This record gives sequence, structure tokens and C-alpha cells, in this order.
Amino acid sequence: MSGDAAPNPSPEPEPSPEPEPSPALAAVATGPLAGRVAVVTGASSGIGRAVAARLAGDGATVLALGRDQARLDALGKEATALPSSGSLVPVRLDLTDTAAVERFAADTVVRYGHVHLLVHSAGGYLNSRVEDASVDDFDAQYAANVRGPFVLTQRLLPALRAAAALDGDGDGGAAPAGADVVVMNSSQGVRAGAGTSQFAATQHAMRAVADSLRQEINSDGIRVVTIHLGRTATPRQEAIFEREGRSYRPELLIQAEDVADLVTYLVQLPRTAEVTELHLRPALKSY
Ligand SMILES: NC(=O)c1ccc[n+]([C@@H]2O[C@H](COP(=O)([O-])OP(=O)(O)OC[C@H]3O[C@@H](n4cnc5c(N)ncnc54)[C@H](OP(=O)(O)O)[C@@H]3O)[C@@H](O)[C@H]2O)c1
Repeated sequence: MSGDAAPNPSPEPEPSPEPEPSPALAAVATGPLAGRVAVVTGASSGIGRAVAARLAGDGATVLALGRDQARLDALGKEATALPSSGSLVPVRLDLTDTAAVERFAADTVVRYGHVHLLVHSAGGYLNSRVEDASVDDFDAQYAANVRGPFVLTQRLLPALRAAAALDGDGDGGAAPAGADVVVMNSSQGVRAGAGTSQFAATQHAMRAVADSLRQEINSDGIRVVTIHLGRTATPRQEAIFEREGRSYRPELLIQAEDVADLVTYLVQLPRTAEVTELHLRPALKSY
């Protein structure tokens, strides 16, 4: 099943070919995250896909955002196969379309009220040396990697605050009080290497956004964590290896499922503690 009805804020919505299951089906979820609502960007590929699948598999209602409707629909079927699963709602949304992001957030606040978890895993990656770089590429990466996630976070704050203010039993469900924002970042967001100036600048910017936001909303019961990732086996990384002319051996890299494990651990950490920043590296330093 692919979950209850999807808010689709895109200008030309492409309805899922699957009939919408009854929201009552989602209520039978028994996984550890049952009762929680999660918004995951970049859910159509790589890390975001693995995180969305894990959260839904663990019982959450997941609003899975991406631009590729077919891949989102396929994920919805895979991620909710077990009886203990929650639901997965595919949402086609381009983060660079500010009006669409605002519509999605407004719909979500009305429809779900609470958002317990916001995971940022969408974005673009273009590399070139400063002297060769296209300024249009810089603008495009800023729009997808910083501006879009910033607007989405800003507009979902009321729903995150609502989740954080729950009484501990959730809204009649099992979700505990508290909310989390998880931001996938890169090792380039700590120290930029040659040829990555534009992308690295967007990652440094998101680190700044996360650090500032944390200080603004911790007192509301919302935690904010940045995960600085090393090379992780995803379609993006495969393309990077191809450009670098190196053979791609995904088994030597962090697995997207490793990151999903980490996210489920972080959100279930007792609310008396907060992880603010993590650096995840492949265990084998093969590259
Ligand atoms: N893989 C790594 O080695 C690595 C290392 C460090 C950091 N990270 C970070 O981890 C995150 C995910 O990386 P990944 O490797 O999983 O990437 P990926 O496989 O390339 O997936 C990127 C995702 O972002 C979505 N996206 C891109 N532009 C978008 C836009 N304008 N609006 C909405 N969605 C958009 C894509 O959607 P569509 O496919 O539907 O267009 C896709 O779902 C990124 O933030 C990245 O910086 C990854």
C-alpha cells in the first residue's frame, strides 16, 4: 500500500495509479515509530529513499518527497509491505519551486497537524574548479540545496512545534512528545576540497542554518542534528566515480541503509539528550 491520500502541490499533479488505501489501514501500524509523521526529502533516490523506507517500515506515516513520481510510487509499494508498517505518501515536489513548497507545507499542517520528523536528504551536486564554474550552476545548487530546504523547514515549524508539544501519548497514537530535524550534509560542509567550491558552499550554508535553528527551537522540544557524510553508495556517488574515471565498488562505502539505521536511532534517543552533529565515514578508508 502507498498510504493515505497524498497532498500534491505540483502545478501539474500526476496522480498515483494505485487506489488510495483507507487511512484506517495505517492505524494498524505496530512498529516502533507508529503514530509519528515524518517528512523526508530526496526520497526518490539514495539516502533519502533508504531513510523513508526504514521509517515507514518502522510504522511511521512518511510523506516522501521527490521529483520522480514513478520512483516514489515504487517506493511506496516496497516500504509498506509488512503488517507492522506505517504508510508512505508519495509527493512530487521540486524544492526550487517556492510556491509549491509553501503549498505542500500548508496542506501538511492542515491535514496532519503534527510533524515529528523532518529529514533533509534532497539536493544537487555539480563540481568544477572556480575558474571554470558556471554561476548559473551555483544559483541552481543554492536553490535546491539551501533555499528550498530553508523554506520547507520554516513552513513546517508550526507542525514540528505541535508534535513537540504533544502530551507524550501522541495524538491518540503511540508517538512520544518531541520533534526532530535531521539534515544530511557532507564532509565538504566541514572542509571543502578542490573542485567543490559551489557544492561545499551550500553545505556550509546548511550547517549554519541548522546550528542557528537549533538554538532557536531547542526550547520548544525540537532537536536538530547535522550528519556530515563521507562517500555513501548511492546513484549520486556512482556518477561521481564515473566522472572521476574510477571503478565503483559500493561495498567499500557507507550504505544508505547505515544512514537509515542512524536516523532511527537518533529519533528514538531519550528526549533528555540531543546529538547535534555527527561525522560518518566508510569504515574502510579505501578511497
Ligand atoms: N552519497 C554520498 O556519498 C553523500 C556524501 C555526502 C553527503 N551526501 C548528502 O546526502 C544527501 C543525499 O545524497 P544521495 O547520494 O542520496 O543523492 P541522490 O541519490 O543524488 O538523490 C538526490 C535526491 O535529491 C532529490 N532532488 C534533487 N534536486 C531536487 C529538487 N530541486 N527538488 C526536490 N528534490 C530534489 C532527487 O530527486 P529526483 O531524483 O526525484 O529528482 C533525489 O531524490 C545529499 O544532501 C547529499 O549532499 C551524500
